[in-house]
Amino acid sequence: MRRSGGELTFQDLRERGTSVLLESGIPEAPRDALLLLQNAAGLDAAGLLARLDRPPPDDAAALFREFVARRAAREPAAMILGRTEFWGIPIRVAPDVLIPRPETEGIIEEALRLSARDGLGLRTIADIGTGSGCLAIALAAEFPDARIFAADISPAALDLARTNVEAAGVSARVRVIEGDLFEPMGSLSLEGGIDLVVANPPYVRRGEIDSLAPEVSRWEPRAALDGGPDGLSVIRRLIDGARRFLRPGGFLVFEIGHDQGPGILDLLDRSGFVEAVVAPDLAGLPRVVVARIPERDERPSSSGARKGQECSVC
Ligand SMILES: C[S@@+](CC[C@H](N)C(=O)[O-])C[C@H]1O[C@@H](n2cnc3c(N)ncnc32)[C@H](O)[C@@H]1O
Repeated sequence: MRRSGGELTFQDLRERGTSVLLESGIPEAPRDALLLLQNAAGLDAAGLLARLDRPPPDDAAALFREFVARRAAREPAAMILGRTEFWGIPIRVAPDVLIPRPETEGIIEEALRLSARDGLGLRTIADIGTGSGCLAIALAAEFPDARIFAADISPAALDLARTNVEAAGVSARVRVIEGDLFEPMGSLSLEGGIDLVVANPPYVRRGEIDSLAPEVSRWEPRAALDGGPDGLSVIRRLIDGARRFLRPGGFLVFEIGHDQGPGILDLLDRSGFVEAVVAPDLAGLPRVVVARIPERDERPSSSGARKGQECSVC
């Protein structure tokens, strides 16, 4: 593919970038090399494929080499580009926030299911640990009548969340607030009045963080990952707060680690939630918990509140 004058083509760059990334142990090397080349050249996928046998402009080639060097040092591609997509919506990212993951979209799917199947009226939603704001923004897009309270303990994450909320055009309905879990909602008189609480809380066992892929352990904020010694420190407090802030009949939907289902179903049972289930994520792993607060007049079944609890894939 090298041209007669010795000039490198886009295809040469793509192949070289791919082999550098493969040598650095990056399994998704071909995909990332293509993505970084596209962005370095300011082209979409079709535009790049149509030009593979041509030489790139010098500045695009230089930028691509810089991107590849950063990616080879295990900086995530989304961090290098400063953006990703969640639920089809562009989201800006930086080292202050977790990069939104496709599997977290399962939370939006569950919210849509609750609204369609159970007729859950979604007027007031809380997104606890909003990070980039991805869940709050996707929910605002799906539920145009809802107001959403997006809370996080990290001021830097909230700055980015505000930018994303504004860029998505939903700032009139998404309120970004700082504080520890539900604490900022107390002063807004939301106790007992929230229809749906969603969260992707930190749930990694502290001792396991350093053994995660370098893209995660070195580049993503500890506060987004660290679930304490057993991974459940934040989840226990999330369940406790959701019990107080949800209205009767309201739902809690949150992401967990694939091996945490049974312990979390037990916590929900002891906290008075009913019909708790752990739904599979895109990879079929049990990662999305859905649980309900009983209605005021709802009596626990004879086998107790645990009836109906199941982990379909645990
Ligand atoms: C796993 S990240 C999830 C970010 C985003 N919701 C997503 O799904 O991509 C967890 C977030 O929870 C926030 N967080 C951690 N502890 C918190 C606490 N006690 N109160 C509020 N937010 C907290 C972190 O700052 C981080 O932004």
